[in-house]
Amino acid sequence: MTDHNSASPAAPHRQYWATRLGVILAVAGSAVGLGNFVRFPAQAVEYGGIFMIPYFVAFILIGLPIVWSEWAMGRFGGMRGFNSAPGIFSILYPRPGKSLIGGWSLMIPVGIYSYYVFIEAWCLAYALKYLFGVMPGTVALDEGGETASAAAYFLHMVGYGENGQVFGVDGAFLLACVAFCFAINLVLIIRGLNRGIEWFCRWAMPLLVLVALIVLVRVLTLGSPVAAAPERNVLTGLGFMWNPDGGEEHWWRQLLNAQIWMAATSQIFFSLSIGLGVIVCYASYLRRRDDVALSSTAAAAGNGFCEVALGGLIVIPAIFIFLGADQVQGLGGSTLGTGFMALPSVFAEMPAGRVFGFLFFFLLFLAAVTSSISMLQPGIAFLEEGLHLRRFQAAGILAVPTLIGVLLVMWYSANLVVLDTVDFWLATFGIFMLAMTQLLIFTFSLGIRRGLAALREGSQVGIPSWVGVLIGVVAPLYLSVIFITWLYQQITATEGNRFHALAQGPVLVGFGFVLALLIGFTLLSWIANRRWRAQAAAGLIPDPRMALVSEPEEDAP
Ligand code: PFF
Repeated sequence: MTDHNSASPAAPHRQYWATRLGVILAVAGSAVGLGNFVRFPAQAVEYGGIFMIPYFVAFILIGLPIVWSEWAMGRFGGMRGFNSAPGIFSILYPRPGKSLIGGWSLMIPVGIYSYYVFIEAWCLAYALKYLFGVMPGTVALDEGGETASAAAYFLHMVGYGENGQVFGVDGAFLLACVAFCFAINLVLIIRGLNRGIEWFCRWAMPLLVLVALIVLVRVLTLGSPVAAAPERNVLTGLGFMWNPDGGEEHWWRQLLNAQIWMAATSQIFFSLSIGLGVIVCYASYLRRRDDVALSSTAAAAGNGFCEVALGGLIVIPAIFIFLGADQVQGLGGSTLGTGFMALPSVFAEMPAGRVFGFLFFFLLFLAAVTSSISMLQPGIAFLEEGLHLRRFQAAGILAVPTLIGVLLVMWYSANLVVLDTVDFWLATFGIFMLAMTQLLIFTFSLGIRRGLAALREGSQVGIPSWVGVLIGVVAPLYLSVIFITWLYQQITATEGNRFHALAQGPVLVGFGFVLALLIGFTLLSWIANRRWRAQAAAGLIPDPRMALVSEPEEDAP
């Protein structure tokens, strides 16, 4: 399948995924990332084995329904000529407020990209350091000749800590890694849907799964390598993840705490890349005859496998065995602490740790790239079809806010406050709001019957009607209860209250960045909406406001 330069709704040529495997790997590529290999294990050890209960409940009650609805809405919009979330929502919800929803759905992936690419660069930096045998923990950190732990290296490198200094150690090297990651993402995105995203995911995804399996075999055959603590072995490590009781009598009481449900739901959103405007964009490149139900379920299941069976089974037993339960729980659920301090400490102790350290961070890097390109595609599709820019122009424009974002994150690296603030407002608050909005649009604007028909089109498996109840009733209800309880807890919290801390230095910078993205993208969505209406009035494109009542034309062969 050729890759066409224009994705404008007025243009005769549309882009499509080349193969079914290609689209499954691309969507799974977006989903499988740092969330699977670092965020999930960090969350699971924070709460203990009981975490798996709300995690699986959230996957079934909210994860799968939103996945199905996003694929159905995406293909529905794609068949009517739109690939970006603002375009798709302009037909699914042709009412005032659509520009804000469009802007919101562009802001989230672009904003997340700003810090994700920075972490991607750490993965690359760590992989290279292991490859060349110069990962601190085994070598001298500075000229003083002091042997530093891997954890200390991380603190120095990103300038983490109260008196953090930007790039205290290895500054130029890290900066080069950031520049490389920035460049590789832009190059892939400019190469386009088929020659960029699909091509990369087709080889990177199988490769990363293979590498993960190798590391998994290593971890599962560790036995009890710490002579001083024979009770810390693979089996007890696995028990740490899978036993819900954690040895306590009233273990189930934890389930009464809204926090664990919120954490599990957030993890499902972030990990599956849902509630972000990314899947609707990817699904819009499907054809009418493609099987949305099967492909979406396959991609979601693939993500679950990478998360639970690879990420969880590698990281949790490994850190448990080498660091012990107390230290592991002391990580406090920190994704970055787990990935970049605890794990390198594990590889420093593990037999052949240098090789496995390299393999692990290399697979993390691949997983991060397949995710970060998916954060750029919605913005590219929007600038192409909304403002009629060419792909490389669109990529150039997107490079500006993302560059500003990554510079802010790097500049305010002390305690990573900007990163943390942007992450909170986009990847937690922003996703919940958008996921809720999307569910309401699916239920009330598109309508459950039409939504189910969109899901069934081209499907080789029967989709029972209760799926409509799951998407239209159960998922929004579940989400509302969790979100409102969580919001209440957040607003009334006396400690660590995000709503009170907004005016403080770097927090304000991070929040200001998020706000600027929202205003900018909403404005651009508004401009695009006006253009589409003008084009429709001139008879150049079908009227987006009529899309819900008229059938689209046949796909081009
Ligand atoms: N799903 C990705 C992960 O688990 O790391 C993260 C992600 C992908 C976030 C795409 C946002 C996004 F737009």
